[in-house]
Order: sequence, then C-alpha cells, then structure tokens
Amino acid sequence: SRIISPRNVKSAQGVLRHFSLSAQRDARVAVLGASGGIGQPLSLLLKENPRVTELALYDVVNTPGVAADLSHISTKAKVTAFSGEKELKHAVKDAEIVLIPAGVPRKPGMTRDDLFNTNAGIVRDLAKVCAKICPDAMLCIITNPVNSTVPIASEVYKQEGVYNHKKIFGVTTLDVVRSNTFIAEAKGLDVNQVYCPVVGGHSGVTIVPLISQCTPPVSFPAEEREKLTRRIQNAGTEVVEAKAGGGSATLSMAYAAARFANSLMEAMSGESGIVECAYVFSGDADTKYFSTPLLLGPNGVAKNLGLSQINEYEHDLVKEAIPELESNVQKGEDFIHKDD
Ligand code: NAD
Ligand code: LMR
Repeated sequence: SRIISPRNVKSAQGVLRHFSLSAQRDARVAVLGASGGIGQPLSLLLKENPRVTELALYDVVNTPGVAADLSHISTKAKVTAFSGEKELKHAVKDAEIVLIPAGVPRKPGMTRDDLFNTNAGIVRDLAKVCAKICPDAMLCIITNPVNSTVPIASEVYKQEGVYNHKKIFGVTTLDVVRSNTFIAEAKGLDVNQVYCPVVGGHSGVTIVPLISQCTPPVSFPAEEREKLTRRIQNAGTEVVEAKAGGGSATLSMAYAAARFANSLMEAMSGESGIVECAYVFSGDADTKYFSTPLLLGPNGVAKNLGLSQINEYEHDLVKEAIPELESNVQKGEDFIHKDD
C-alpha cells in the first residue's frame, strides 16, 4: 500500500479504508499475458509489493527474459516464468490471485467490442485452465472487451462446475483512477483524498462515473459535469489516439490493476473496510453483470454495495448504459454456448 493506494480515503458508502501491513499475509499471484504492454509494468509493481511472495509470469512469448529481469530486484517475491500452452497449468498452480491482461489492444478507430473475435477465445482458454487448476483463486480480467470477457469466463467456470461469482472480477479500477485524477485536477484537490466510484461496464456509454458520490463532495455546473463525464467515458480512446497505433493504456492500467490486486490482498489478509469498484455478476435482470462498489473480504466479494443514492443525471446515464451492456453480456455467453 505504499505507492499504489490512496490513504484513508472514505468511500461513497462511508467505509473508512485502513492501510497497515500488520495483518500482512503472503500472496501467490499469477499474471497471464505478462510480457505485454500492461503485463510488464504490472509485474514490476507486483514484484515491488511486499505482500507478494510468489509471482508467476505466463505468456505465449518472452516470459524468461521478463522474469530474469524482474528477479534481480531486491524484493521478496520469487519470480517464475512459464511460456506456451503446456506450461499454463504450472503457472497457475497454487495461485491465489490471477490477473489476465492477455490479448490484443485497440488501434485508433476501433471499439473494444472490435477486439472480441481475437480476445474471446484467449480468455475462454485461459479461464478453462484456471477453472481446472486454481478454481478458488480470485480471477481478475483486464482483457477487453471486459463487458463480454467476464461473462465468458463465468460460463467456462459454470461448465467446469466451479463457478463462484464472488471471485470473478472485470478490472475497472482504471475508470476510478481516471475519475479521481480528472476531478482532482478540475477542483484543485489533493488527488490522494479524492474517491469517485464508477459503475456500469467498461466501454463508452457503459462507463458511469457517480460524481454525486465523490469524496470529498464536489459539484459542477451541468455543462461541465457533462463534459467531465464524457471525458471519463472516452479516456481510453484518448490514450489510443495519442498512441496513434501503438496500442492503448498500459502504464496507467498497470497502476490500476496493481492497486486492485493490492486491495484484494488486503481483504484476503482480513483487513476490514476494503472497497473497490469492479465488474461482477450482480444477479439483477437488466444489469446481470455490473460494476459497483464492492466490499471485499477474504473470499472475494463480501458485499455488493450497489448504487446507493444516485441523482437523476446519473440515473439517465445508467439507463443509457443498459442496452449496450445487455448485448455485450449476451454476446459473451453465446460465444461459450454456440456449440451447445
Ligand atoms: P499487448 O499486446 O501489449 O500485450 C498482450 C500480451 O498478451 C502479449 O504479450 C501477448 O503475447 C499476450 N498473449 C496473447 N495471447 C495470449 C495467450 N493466449 N496467452 C497468454 N498471453 C497471450 O496488449 P496490452 O496493451 O497489454 O493490452 C492487453 C489487453 O488489456 C487488451 O485487450 C486491452 O484492450 C486490455 N486493456 C484493458 C483495460 C481495462 O481497463 N480493463 C485497460 C487497458 C487495456
Ligand atoms: C482503457 O480504458 O484504457 C482500456 O479499456 C483500453 C482501451 O481500449 O481503451
């Protein structure tokens, strides 16, 4: 929690976050897609996290080099490398947290859904092995389109008979990180003290920042609020365009995923009051999978904190998100059941 977490940030639900290493417990973490743009800096941040004792790096290429490099860093985590399909089972054996940034990123002009054809199969195959080898691990999916890849992994776990929706997360932390940054900039606040939950999904209009629930409370004139909301929704595209064909967000994503993993480790250590937003199975009819603030515990989601009191503007944003979310979820589920 030294460099990757805000300190004593009160969440929208009024849960005070406590940061201490007193209840520290060792954690075994695997990164699938570890040689990529996200995978490398994410692995670096995990290697730097004092809670991580074992860090298993898996990719289809280049893991021996990445692992050799990281292994020279003088921190506790023991780094191991695994390459190619046959080694995947060894990579995830004993893992308690699996982070998946494997798959292709967007280029300018593409939507996240345009990545489906390539990435759906990658997530399905990785999830299948995780379901068999480490079914109790927290599965954290970064690969886009997150709105569909989380239902894909969930259906695979169901097929394998090991589904536990409390342990499968779509990582949407970057949306919260961006909201905190943009709001702090706009209001001249200390960004470490700003927390703005983001709900919905992880693509365009499905990304719904709840500015009304920001800590500390902030308010904007309607036009400015609209501009800020749309900027948060399009922040991924902002990076894709700036990288001009060189991929999408990698460094900020690595930071966000490292923060999410750290929160999971804190919760798994028995620390109380750990809240993060993530895209999970909600069980609601029209928002079957939905990102909301979650109280995390030793077994994953301890309590889904839901939407709380959102205002009319945010209510309309949620309404705008639902059709795209529903179709993304359906597409993911259909992908797994197409041969049924
Ligand atoms: P990248 O191309 O730099 O890296 C992807 C890595 O995945 C590569 O090293 C590649 O070899 C590896 N890979 C491909 N197939 C694999 C397989 N079957 N098994 C294991 N590894 C495999 O891409 P990136 O910039 O790191 O982005 C990765 C994914 O993360 C993309 O889908 C991107 O859209 C997504 N992303 C999500 C968020 C989010 O907020 N959730 C943010 C940024 C990027
Ligand atoms: C992001 O939000 O940065 C990621 O989902 C990557 C992308 O394609 O925008």
